[in-house]
Amino acid sequence: MQKRVRKAVFPVAGQGTRFLPATKALPKEMLPIVDRPLIQYAVDEAREAGIEEFIFVTGRNKSAIEDHFDRSFELERSLSEKGNTEALNAIRELVLEPGQISYTRQQSPLGLGHAVWCARHLIGDEPFAILLADDLILARPGCLKQMIDLHAEIGGNLVAVEDVPREQTDRYGILDVTSDDGRIASAKGLVEKPKPADAPSTLSIIGRYILQPEVFEKLSTAKPGAGGEIQLTDAMARTIPDIPFRGLRFDGKRYDCGNRAGFLEASVAFALDRPDMTERVKAMLKKYV
Ligand code: UTP
Repeated sequence: MQKRVRKAVFPVAGQGTRFLPATKALPKEMLPIVDRPLIQYAVDEAREAGIEEFIFVTGRNKSAIEDHFDRSFELERSLSEKGNTEALNAIRELVLEPGQISYTRQQSPLGLGHAVWCARHLIGDEPFAILLADDLILARPGCLKQMIDLHAEIGGNLVAVEDVPREQTDRYGILDVTSDDGRIASAKGLVEKPKPADAPSTLSIIGRYILQPEVFEKLSTAKPGAGGEIQLTDAMARTIPDIPFRGLRFDGKRYDCGNRAGFLEASVAFALDRPDMTERVKAMLKKYV
């Protein structure tokens, strides 16, 4: 029997330089797709997957995220007095139970691996999930639910993967694959951002992980890797001799909202997916193409 995955880490301490000036004072994770911020999609995906504890690794300028998931008594009272139940429900539904959410800080943005390591005391000795809010996934059931269901059967370390064009391997962590049945791939190694010619495959890791707590030991002795950052990929790679490492080609579509074109595409796709907006958005798109 595998230990159940109850906790999720949301690293939100990055600087979001690709979205400046929008992200000068606003966290990247608060940029909205249709009518909710990226981070809310990630939290909702984790809730759907049965996650009970939500751990945010934040940094400077990120207080808007804490406010977003908190009660807002003045706003609630004003909406209630106006009888605006739709908006009232929308802001009430997103608030988690008291004590379900905690925040820790990454004092300097030393990389994703370092951000995850900052959550080690809050995770303790159990498998946990990591969700990167800028990888937005349209999937039913949600990507993390698909992963947690599979993880309950096979355990180990499990990440969401996607085939990418070979010329893009230098943007991702890439699996060195030993076996692949078209849905689940096993890896004997991982390489962060390899040049296309050096990439051991084109199977890339995207921002959903379920990891065993042993990764923290590897992170605590990690040296800066690609880009001078403490890389999660390197620490995960070092667990491979002891813990099986697998990638799941999940059922769904992922949008890279960390770059402008991906963000725009996600806005269109998520608007088209909203029954109340589909027809209006289709008509609007026809005007432009
Ligand atoms: P990115 O690689 O997209 O970096 O981080 P970034 O800083 O957010 O954006 P750019 O590249 O400067 O435009 C992927 C995820 O890891 C988190 C980010 O917040 C994002 O969710 N992260 C990254 C941290 O929490 N800390 C870090 O030191 C780096």
